[in-house]
Amino acid sequence: MQKYKRLIAGKVSSLYEGISSEDIFQLIEYPANAQMGDLSVPCFKLSKQLRKSPAAVAEELKAAVSSDAFERIEAVSGYLNFYLNKPLFAESVLNEIRRQKENYGSQKLGEGKTIVIDYSSPNIAKPFHVAHLRSTVIGSALYRIHSFLGYECVGVNHLGDWGTQFGKLIVAYRMWGSRQDVEQRGIDELLRLYVKFHDEAERNASLENEARAWFAKMEQGNEEALALWRWFVDISLEEFKRIYDLLGIRFDSYAGESFYNDKMDAVIRELKSKDLLEEDDGASLVRLDDYGMPPALILKKDGSSLYHTRDIAAAIYRKEAYSFDKAIYVTDYAQNLHFQQWFKVVELMGYEWSGDLVHVAFGRVSLEGMSLSTRKGNVIKLEEVLGQAIAKTKKVMEARNHPLPNIDEVSRQVGVGAVIFHDLSASRIKDVVFSWEQVLSFEGETGPYVQYTHARICSILAKAKDAPPASESALAQLSFHLQNDATNLLLRELSVFGERVELAAKKLEPSILARYLIDLAQAFNRFYHECPILNAEDKDVREARLALCEAVRMVLKSGLHLIGLEAPKQM
Ligand code: ARG
Repeated sequence: MQKYKRLIAGKVSSLYEGISSEDIFQLIEYPANAQMGDLSVPCFKLSKQLRKSPAAVAEELKAAVSSDAFERIEAVSGYLNFYLNKPLFAESVLNEIRRQKENYGSQKLGEGKTIVIDYSSPNIAKPFHVAHLRSTVIGSALYRIHSFLGYECVGVNHLGDWGTQFGKLIVAYRMWGSRQDVEQRGIDELLRLYVKFHDEAERNASLENEARAWFAKMEQGNEEALALWRWFVDISLEEFKRIYDLLGIRFDSYAGESFYNDKMDAVIRELKSKDLLEEDDGASLVRLDDYGMPPALILKKDGSSLYHTRDIAAAIYRKEAYSFDKAIYVTDYAQNLHFQQWFKVVELMGYEWSGDLVHVAFGRVSLEGMSLSTRKGNVIKLEEVLGQAIAKTKKVMEARNHPLPNIDEVSRQVGVGAVIFHDLSASRIKDVVFSWEQVLSFEGETGPYVQYTHARICSILAKAKDAPPASESALAQLSFHLQNDATNLLLRELSVFGERVELAAKKLEPSILARYLIDLAQAFNRFYHECPILNAEDKDVREARLALCEAVRMVLKSGLHLIGLEAPKQM
């Protein structure tokens, strides 16, 4: 469709002095009603610029723009409506997909530009729970989408691997833990210790002081404290990496909070020298009253540093290391203020790139009304969610007459796909109430539905080996066979893939692609039910329809890949 829009924009703009093709491109609409054409240029804005009535502009344009790409062009009440030459459209969409294969829909928009994406970033020594899944899958989808559009992407896992929680854990471990239990039970044992600490601390206030003291030892480089810390980090990372592998997620950097330990002093000195730091009851902070925000705490009373300070140090480091054009942070909206505050501090420090820092916020995950709290131990572990989804898929597939030989692999692809898709299918800012039932439902608008549609097409194509899809040159002759409503709708969906990818990037909203894949799968399934493929009325129709199937398969596969799902050939 973009090709058609560019064609129209080029023709219209060439008629008038001072009106750019881009201006016209932006005006072009998809009429809601197919009676009004496939594309439409509203002439109201132009009419003001040209001091003529919209109807007169539309008439004038109609007389001047013509192309065999369009079957007809009509001027109706100030709109110029374009009706595509359908066989030509079908041929051009299908051949373009065929030529570009997995690059269909990609662009060079971001060429020469770098985007740093900070996502997942779980806190060490706490289990990976479903709330972290959102950051992980949204961030990873944004990474893939931007790469597809030509950006150089750097994925950073800003692990929460430093902070007072380690002091608590050390105290709890020394009082109630054993090396053997931690080695055997991994993060589960660390969580048990963490929960126990908070339980006991309610009765015994001195525990908090002890924890602070141990964290202070870590900050001072005490070997005993650091050795325990390193051990906790390794145990957690092992578990996280297992989950990332399962999800097919990767990072270019695991530089977590502790990575910035030796970069904090410089930030504090810089803030001081720029006169931004203020002492307040022993702590240091940057006042943000002028911007309607509470102060950003930079150094605590006991000298330990804070989340803000680390983020400032990290941003300066990332700018130097990657010279990014944009740095994106994916967290839930509970951190809105945190990001607004430190973005402002970076601006006040005089860094002109502070405007390139973007917080991509998403809604919170709750468990049927109850909020998830690590301290109380009521977390839903992601590994358990994935495990259940995989087990359920396997059960469904085992019940089939001909279970697949690679049933374990496919169960993983589909089970994991269900969980990822569920998380991406609503706009990111919406709160999510976690429900097992919904996550494990494969009916309706779900990932498995899209994957299943892809597999169905693969099986049709496999059965068509004797009479394969029409070739590129044959399509020119055969495309007039692709002319009913269901087919037109499907072709149209295929043709807007590139636009949807671009919009998803612009709005930093992977749900746009998830939605698109549902629309495409539904359009295919309607076509499939209305138009016989393998049993089409004659050989030409069959070849043309098979060519369409092949195109849909490719686009489903790339779309699924962009949001992090695999596309098994059989299900
Ligand atoms: N570890 C944090 C959390 O779990 C998220 C970190 C996000 N990234 C950042 N640069 N602040 O809440």
